[in-house]
Amino acid sequence: MIITLLGPPGSGKGTQGKLLSRALGLPHLSTGDMLRDIVASDSDLGREIAAVIDRGHFISDEMARDMVADRLDAPECAQGVILDGFPRTLPQVSLLDDILVVRERQLDAALLFEVPEEVLVARIAERGDGRLDDRPEVIAERLAVYHQKTRPVIETYRGVGALQVISGDQSPDAVLEACLRLLQPHRKAG
Ligand code: AP5
Ligand code: MG
Repeated sequence: MIITLLGPPGSGKGTQGKLLSRALGLPHLSTGDMLRDIVASDSDLGREIAAVIDRGHFISDEMARDMVADRLDAPECAQGVILDGFPRTLPQVSLLDDILVVRERQLDAALLFEVPEEVLVARIAERGDGRLDDRPEVIAERLAVYHQKTRPVIETYRGVGALQVISGDQSPDAVLEACLRLLQPHRKAG
């Protein structure tokens, strides 16, 4: 089963990615986490990436594609994967289609977490794990970029009937339960 988690910054993609990973026994593949690992490696590439993400902007679609494609070919992803943060632009939707088609795989569902904007801002402000893109002025930019570039992704998945909308403004356990309920038909189908 291949699913992707959608939603604005702070909506709980990472939180649910980990919970779903445990519940479904599938790897959680977060492009944001992968990028932060590269940044932590203190290389030239890491510094380049930091300069982009710390302003709240996106890295290139091709780089995002390559990170995901590489990981999908790992044996632990043979049964499926929980994508978190990819695709998040319209070109990335096509790139994901290309990645999956050549591997004779398909996206089973796109789960969208909806959370009021004031709750998102408060959650990110409270997170306190030192992410430079969690500064208030960068949060505003991340939200603006989300509306401009990721909203069309949501509408695309809605249009093809792949989108499942979940309130992310409830406890993490309640969100997980809602996700698992919506994924039940896909789990039965294997
Ligand atoms: P990424 O790491 O994906 O960041 P994001 O989408 O901005 O979202 P966050 O990670 O901040 O939020 P989340 O939805 O994961 O929520 P979380 O569970 O942490 O991307 C970072 C950057 O990398 C991007 O801006 C971009 O530059 C780059 N990038 C990544 N992918 C890319 C791509 N494909 N293409 C181009 N660039 C890309 O929760 C947030 C907080 O709320 C936590 O403290 C959590 O404990 C809390 N919380 C979670 N759920 C609940 C709940 N139900 N109730 C109360 N609190 C909750
Ligand atoms: Mg995240």
